[in-house]
Amino acid sequence: MQHISSKIQYRIYTSLEELTAEERNLVLEARSASVKAYAPYSRFRVGTAILLSNNQIITANNQENISFPEGLCAERVALFSASANYPNETISAIAVAGNSTLKTTDTPITPCGGCRQVLAEYESKQKSKIKVIMTGITGNIITVEGIDNLLPLRFEME
Ligand code: THU
Repeated sequence: MQHISSKIQYRIYTSLEELTAEERNLVLEARSASVKAYAPYSRFRVGTAILLSNNQIITANNQENISFPEGLCAERVALFSASANYPNETISAIAVAGNSTLKTTDTPITPCGGCRQVLAEYESKQKSKIKVIMTGITGNIITVEGIDNLLPLRFEME
């Protein structure tokens, strides 16, 4: 028997000014995309902004449905849109920003398990890491370099 212990790494920033201009822009794009979410059931709006290798930015937000399981998280709406429209571009980074319409969200939100699995798929496909930038509509920002830090020991076929 071996007892393995592994670590994840993440950074916490207390202000937008600490980020690079590129990261800051993605956060602002994600926060502004959250405003356009269709979230009448949860009243929790999530916005995402993806930076592609051609410098294009893809934004999206969560889309809910009266039949709850048919809704989709903002991350997957953006990732599928990026892959559908730019299948040969690499995803450099994705920013995720959440906000409740009932109470200002000032702590970072992090992708759900399903979205982590989808992020892992595109990392494997493109063979390079995706930076994930997580935040609320305001407040601290957390970043990780690659899905290993969000979904260790994930399902892989080889
Ligand atoms: N949601 C996202 O869009 N991304 C996440 O990572 C977590 C949750 C959405 C799903 C649902 O529309 C609402 O937030 C509340 O769970």
